[in-house]
Order: sequence, then C-alpha cells, then structure tokens
Amino acid sequence: MAKISFSFGAAVGKSALSAAALRAEYEERILKAAEWLENTPADASGNGWIVLPGCAADEIKKTAEWLSGYDNIIQVGIGGSALGNLMLNQALTDIFYNEKESRPKFFLADNPDPCKARSIMDLAGKGRTALVGVSKSGSTAETMTQFLWFRDELIKKGQSDKDILVITDPEKGIFRAFARSSGCRVLDLPASVGGRYSVLSSAGLATAAALGIDIDSLLKGAASMKKFLCEEKDLDKNPAFKMAALHLLHESEGRSMSVIMPYSSRMAYFAEWYAQLWAESLGKNGLGTTPVRALGAIDQHSQVQLYTEGPDDKLFTIICIGCHGEEITVPKVEREELAPLKYLEGQALGEMLGLEAKSTAAAIVKSGKPVIWIELEKLDAENLGALIFFYEYLTAITGRAMGIDPFDQPGVEQGKKYTYGLMGRSGYEKDACEVSRWFEKINSDRI
Ligand code: PA5
Repeated sequence: MAKISFSFGAAVGKSALSAAALRAEYEERILKAAEWLENTPADASGNGWIVLPGCAADEIKKTAEWLSGYDNIIQVGIGGSALGNLMLNQALTDIFYNEKESRPKFFLADNPDPCKARSIMDLAGKGRTALVGVSKSGSTAETMTQFLWFRDELIKKGQSDKDILVITDPEKGIFRAFARSSGCRVLDLPASVGGRYSVLSSAGLATAAALGIDIDSLLKGAASMKKFLCEEKDLDKNPAFKMAALHLLHESEGRSMSVIMPYSSRMAYFAEWYAQLWAESLGKNGLGTTPVRALGAIDQHSQVQLYTEGPDDKLFTIICIGCHGEEITVPKVEREELAPLKYLEGQALGEMLGLEAKSTAAAIVKSGKPVIWIELEKLDAENLGALIFFYEYLTAITGRAMGIDPFDQPGVEQGKKYTYGLMGRSGYEKDACEVSRWFEKINSDRI
C-alpha cells in the first residue's frame, strides 16, 4: 500500500482566514470541482488521465521488452512528452544509471540544442540504438527536427525504420502517418490524455519499463490514491481538497508562487514535472500561481534566505522521504584536528536530509509563511505512482475551482504556431508575420 502523509497545521500562515474558516469559504467550490471531474467521461478531451491507473499495460510491456534488447534508447520529445520520463528514470533507477554497466542506456533529446543532440549521438553511436519519438500531436517542431536528424543518423549507421517506435495520437498527426506507412513500431497515446497528464500512459511507461522500472507498482500506487481521493468527500480528510482550498486562499491573498521543495536528489525532476503540470494547467485568464522548483538540501544554501526573510508571496510544499533505500553513516573521527566533528560520528546521511527538511520547514513557519508538509515512507514505484496521481487530481480540481479549463494550453499552442510560421511550414504564414511585428516592437528600443 502506498504510504504518504500530508500535514497542514502550518499551511494557513499569516492569512487573514483561520484554518477553520477555510472549509466554509472553499468547500462548496472544491466539492463542485470534484463532482465535475467524476461526471466528466474519461473520453472527454483532456480527461483521459483519470482512468490510466486502471488500464492494461500488456502492450506497453511487450514493447518495453523489445526496447530492452537494444544497447541504447534515444527518446525525442518535449514538455509532457519528456518530463514524465525524466522524473520516473531519476526517481526509480540508479542516479548514475547511464554511467554504470546498465543496458539499454537512455538518452532524452528534448531541447533542440545541437550540442546536446550531437553528444547523444556520439554516446549512442556504439551498439544498436532504438529511436523513440513521443509526441501527442505528432507535429511539435522541436521533436520533429530531432526525430528527422536522429533517424537519418541511424540509417547512416545501417539501421532502419524497424528500429523506431513512435508514441502518438491514435488517429492524427505526422507521426501517425509515418507509423502507418513506414512499418515502424507504434503505441497509442490515448486521444483524451493531454501531454502533461500522460506520464502513466505509454508516453511515460514504455521507456520506463524498458529500463526495469516496475510499472505495475506505479499504476497500483496511482490506483490506490485515485480510490482514496475519489471516495473521501470531507475537505478535512481529503488532502487534495484541502490543498486545493489552500492554493485558492493564498492566491487570493497575493501569494502568487507555489514552491515545491523535495528533499531527495532523486526528486529534482519531480519538481520539474510538477512545474509544467501546474503552470500549463492553471496559468489562464490572468490567474494561476507560479510554480517554483527548489531542491533540499541544496537550496537551503541558495534560496532559503529569501524564503524566510523575503516577501510573504509564496506557499511552500516540502516533501520529505522517510527511507532513502540506502544509508551511509559517518565513520569514527580519529584525527585530532577533526575532533570538533565528533558530533557527526555515527550520523546517517539520509536521516540528516530529513532533519534538514524539518529545520527548513520550521524556519519558514517561524517567519510566518505557510508550509504544507508531505512525507513519503520511501521513494518507490508505488508511492511515486500515488504522488503523481495526487498532483494530477489536485491540479485538475484546483483549475476547475478557479473557473478555468485545466486541460487545454492555448498559450503553448500559440508558441508552436509562431515557430511553425518562422520555420516556413505552410499554413502558418500569418503567424510568421505576427512574430515579425512583435519582434519589431522588441527591437524598437535597442542599445
Ligand atoms: O502538456 C502539453 O500539452 C504540452 O506541454 C505538450 O506536452 C508539449 O507541447 C509537447 O507536445 P506534443 O506531445 O504534442 O509533441
């Protein structure tokens, strides 16, 4: 069973509203949002993520087995077609997975940076390589440029379209058309699942399983969290309801930032994944709070000064891991000059991270700022699956309670169209002109 706890005792901070009044103020909106989610069919646009925990993963596993026979996997994809993979791999495989003897090596080409792409190809040049293209729309320029380049490189090496897997919309897009005619492998990315909600679909799970991640446990954890959140209707007992209410409260009082600070190097990409989910889902109609990624304990030595003594404009979520799965203890201090460090003898590094998380939370609370504390018994597939589902659910109901659509992304689409226009894609000529006009404005005062 997934084991995660949520503590809200200091989550109101210096708000004008008391913890008790929170319920009266927001309960109705949150319950309505949850009801809407429950009553929206899973095949309605954007809502497909909600049934992913219960979906059969047989085809994904079969494809993963095929992928695991390669020496290297290069995945091209960006945003929701990349961040989930980075999150899963970092949390659930060895931190230096690629540097060890592990096989297949995994490379993710997200940013279309020529130096990065060239380096990936240099490293993946040895042995047989599978190219995995992930794109819901099957047309995103950053992904397509790199797909074309890596495909060409593989063909020059004597490989073929038989070494390619695309994960894309079941009907639409250029990837789908390529899959139909090239004979490459293909997995469906369900039409009703949006990019940033797709980590528990083929988009996130195929390469994860190929790297040995236990995707059954991920889905099991997500399913148990879904059951809990969907059945518990009391705002004081449902952590997603309570957290949604807190976000609405703090946004309304000018706390425009949502800081997430996990205390584990294996969760740095979790914070990145969350940042996309939160920003792209909620930043609409002049509303939304800005997600800020922090990492404990590193950011204690970078950001915590601002967090404690800077402006009261943030809601903090600190995520602590009970057991890191590995423990290292400080040995006996024998040298005379190191004697002042004797207090560290026998101390465990993992426990120290936990103590530091507590210290940071306490320091922020002391300064009057709101803190939510989340604790995972351990960072394993089941708990991570549960946490992923929790955040997806939280984001969806918060958005709905804000009165916006948490599943669309018109701002992202606008940027995509401008890029297509500038790169000469037919049908986007007007977009190219528009960019030029805005850019003239930018350059009208140039030093
Ligand atoms: O969440 C989203 O919809 C976006 O961030 C997409 O994931 C991102 O733009 C990539 O799109 P696609 O998967 O269509 O290539």
